[in-house]
Amino acid sequence: MLKLENVNVHYGATQVLWDVSMEVGAGEMVAVMGPNGSGKSTVLKAAMGLKKASSGAVLFDGEDLRAKPATVRPRRGMSIVLERRRLFPRMSVRENIMLGGYARPAGEARGSFAWVLGLFPEIEPHLDATAGKLSGGQQQMVAIARGLMARPRVLLMDEPFLGLSPAMVKNVYGIMKTINSEGVAVLFNEQNAKLSFAMSHRGYLLESGRVVLSGSGEEMLEHPEVRRVYLGVRESAA
Ligand SMILES: Nc1ncnc2c1ncn2[C@@H]1O[C@H](COP(=O)(O)OP(=O)(O)OP(=O)(O)O)[C@@H](O)[C@H]1O
Ligand SMILES: [Mg+2]
Repeated sequence: MLKLENVNVHYGATQVLWDVSMEVGAGEMVAVMGPNGSGKSTVLKAAMGLKKASSGAVLFDGEDLRAKPATVRPRRGMSIVLERRRLFPRMSVRENIMLGGYARPAGEARGSFAWVLGLFPEIEPHLDATAGKLSGGQQQMVAIARGLMARPRVLLMDEPFLGLSPAMVKNVYGIMKTINSEGVAVLFNEQNAKLSFAMSHRGYLLESGRVVLSGSGEEMLEHPEVRRVYLGVRESAA
């Protein structure tokens, strides 16, 4: 469904992604893992059109969106939840969520709102509170709810667990699983290898802007390089 082919991205004269190719099938959960500054966020931004790739292709249902403005993506079925949540802190929770449905007719937006609230019962009591008053974990839920208002077929999530308590990580993890089981594909990035790959159908490891490893979630977790460098497991000599 979503496919990046040999995507190169530059910031000014500096190249930060090199021939990145990735694939997200319909209904798949896909993780992009990598250390700080390896280019994880840039991959999502290039996919979403928030940062234009200098070359390569960003295919969605076979159509190359690379050079198209970011605004066409939501209409095709792509949505993004950005890092550090980016809510409007002085607006109410309800307003923040409804913003995610701006591109849809009012009737449809109401239907999406009901669907989204069903996924996040914890949010309902806070609908009229200003978003800035919520805890970090609650804000993350509002951000995800906003992203889902567009009824995406693929939801991109930039570090959905960043800064959350262990209990909230579990909660958001559960929500991602639920969304995914309802048929929404999810492409997310995360620095923790175990968290990334244990929950995903497929994973990619990025280092210095290049995909250095890819495979099923299980293959990634069992890969000696991932185990040694990212899971800190010492293999005993065979
Ligand atoms: N707006 C920008 N201008 C210039 N360079 C940038 C910009 N944004 C990112 N970079 C550089 O591009 C590279 C990849 O950054 P990116 O944010 O995609 O990495 P990341 O893996 O998401 O990192 P983090 O773990 O810190 O979120 C880094 O070297 C970063 O310094
Ligand atoms: Mg990042």
